[in-house]
Amino acid sequence: MTILLLGSGGREHALAWKLTQSPFCEKLLVAPGNAGTAQIATNVNTSVTDFQAIKTIVLQEQVAMVVVGPEDPLVQGIYDFFQNDDQLKNISVIGPSKLGAQLEGSKEFAKKFLIRHGIPTAAYDSFTKETVEEGCAFLETLSPPYVLKADGLAAGKGVVILSELQAAQTELRQMLLESKFGQASAKVVIEEFLEGIELSCFVLTDGKNYKILPTAKDYKRIGVGDTGLNTGGMGAISPVPFADSVLMDKIEQRIVIPTVKGLQEENIPYRGFIFIGLINVKGEPMVIEYNVRMGDPETEVVIPRLKNDLVELFSAVAQQKLNTVNLEIDSRSAATVMLVSGGYPEDYQKGKVISGIDSVEDSIVFHAGTKAENGQILSNGGRVLAVTSFGDDFQQAVKKSYQNINKLYFDTMYYRPDIGFDLLG
Ligand code: AMP
Ligand code: GLY
Repeated sequence: MTILLLGSGGREHALAWKLTQSPFCEKLLVAPGNAGTAQIATNVNTSVTDFQAIKTIVLQEQVAMVVVGPEDPLVQGIYDFFQNDDQLKNISVIGPSKLGAQLEGSKEFAKKFLIRHGIPTAAYDSFTKETVEEGCAFLETLSPPYVLKADGLAAGKGVVILSELQAAQTELRQMLLESKFGQASAKVVIEEFLEGIELSCFVLTDGKNYKILPTAKDYKRIGVGDTGLNTGGMGAISPVPFADSVLMDKIEQRIVIPTVKGLQEENIPYRGFIFIGLINVKGEPMVIEYNVRMGDPETEVVIPRLKNDLVELFSAVAQQKLNTVNLEIDSRSAATVMLVSGGYPEDYQKGKVISGIDSVEDSIVFHAGTKAENGQILSNGGRVLAVTSFGDDFQQAVKKSYQNINKLYFDTMYYRPDIGFDLLG
């Protein structure tokens, strides 16, 4: 079959790498893709949210399945767009409906869903510009640090954690009254701070059945030792060593099962990934967020560990037959390290020539922000390449990535030298 994959990051290169290994994938189109996907598939220069242009491609190319990488098209309703179009409704879309995507598109929707279904999460309340003073008073009832979340999509920047009450009140006013995050902060969720170590659980569901994919942990901060600004993710490892069977059982029973059941009970169509962000609070998993897609760079460690044919798996999702599939997971650990442009996540330069990719041995180089020009690969974004390796444990895997990174170069290149640092011992 012909498959169309939407997106242009490391996540999409990893998905493309896996999809093209399947004998069922006769042709893969990636919109818009990057220099990495161009090497294994056909890039189409279309925005992921231009649904009319996507429709044209799908009909022209006789696409049978659309795999949606990022959240934007999901939150904007690409699933429903296909369902409501006579020419498109029989084409499989891997991703949730517009309503299901609200689990990521609205923090308040997610909190209400969690509470309705008795799923453990931090206590919260939400406020608008009309109730800003009540929000400030609510902050006074909490103990620091204070967690403020813009309700809507804010490109990963909408969560602010502050240790001073006054600063938190000022931030709340800026979010609500001065539209600090635009429309996304027209509503703000204030939440109890949870103390513990984070991990992510990835679920693939067909709306009735589910499979739990390997766990992963990402490293969001730009600086060594988890310091500095938040980024999209500077590296990841899978599995998470402390996610033992006791913790995983709690996650499945208390979080995954009620989530999938909740979607079904509420008739929310959902055929795709659920990425559950968790904090392990003294052995008790609590949900901090849902995302309605795979993580990036978590995909670059989770997907390489999956032994199943990904097209078969997605077809089972589309046909609601996920119960007939057995997941096979590589028992080795995987690690990925992101190479980013100097200055990221603030201003950075693009267009730097990347060298050394061909000399990498025994690691996989997934492209993120790259483009091909005149036979060269150029940097074209903040996150540029993800170098993924396997090992008997995560330390070995991380080490292999760093050995190969020594062969890679572009002007201003930066990476975190300490991926996995907090998991030792
Ligand atoms: P989110 O976008 O919801 O994942 O939040 C971004 C980051 O803020 C998370 O990865 C956590 O590190 C942190 N965070 C979010 N909510 C909480 C909370 N209730 N307690 C502690 N940290 C949190
Ligand atoms: N790495 C975090 C995310 O994809 O949201």
